Amino acid sequence: MDFAVLASGNGSNLQAIINAAKKGKIRGKLKLVISDKADARALERARKAGVPKVLFVDPKGFPSREDYDDELVSILRKEKVGLVVLAGFMRILSPVFIRAFRYKVINVHPALLPAFKGGHAVKDSLAYGVRVTGVTVHFVDEQVDHGAIIAQGAVEVKPKDTVETLSKRIHKMEHVLYPKVVDNFLRGKYKVSGRIVRMK
Ligand code: GAR
Repeated sequence: MDFAVLASGNGSNLQAIINAAKKGKIRGKLKLVISDKADARALERARKAGVPKVLFVDPKGFPSREDYDDELVSILRKEKVGLVVLAGFMRILSPVFIRAFRYKVINVHPALLPAFKGGHAVKDSLAYGVRVTGVTVHFVDEQVDHGAIIAQGAVEVKPKDTVETLSKRIHKMEHVLYPKVVDNFLRGKYKVSGRIVRMK
């Protein structure tokens, strides 16, 4: 099965997926990388890795979020991808997109959902004083950071942690967990029933 990655920033998760695929640990082809940011390092990483299609799709060229998402859907459909992997894609996808790829869009979030949703999860977890946080990989539905949970990994918070030091350890966990989930999905290993995701 072919898949796509959508990323807005550094793209370290994209890199982890590229590296895993190179080692034969992801049994599917990364056909397309799309970013909503022209200067996303993720685009550079994708080009360097020889991903067949690497696109910057500028949100400014579209009158509404739905129009932008429509464009993404038509690009992804043309490439016939069976999975859309969000890797630090910092846009909320509209129902237009979710309906087109129901249970085919996954996201990685830097906290143990349902705690600390949103764009500042690591900072919020630290400020709240949690002792354990982590990583969640989940299906994307119409609500933000809400869809059925596929996998989680715990990361201990150390007394002297800053957003930077904690983020570093969270990223390490993401880079192990996310490629594994991508591979399992592509091999048809997940069975979903409502919010419950089981391994077949
Ligand atoms: C990751 O830590 C991911 O969990 C987070 O963005 C980072 C992207 O890093 N996503 C969210 O916060 C989504 N709410 P990367 O560009 O190096 O892969």
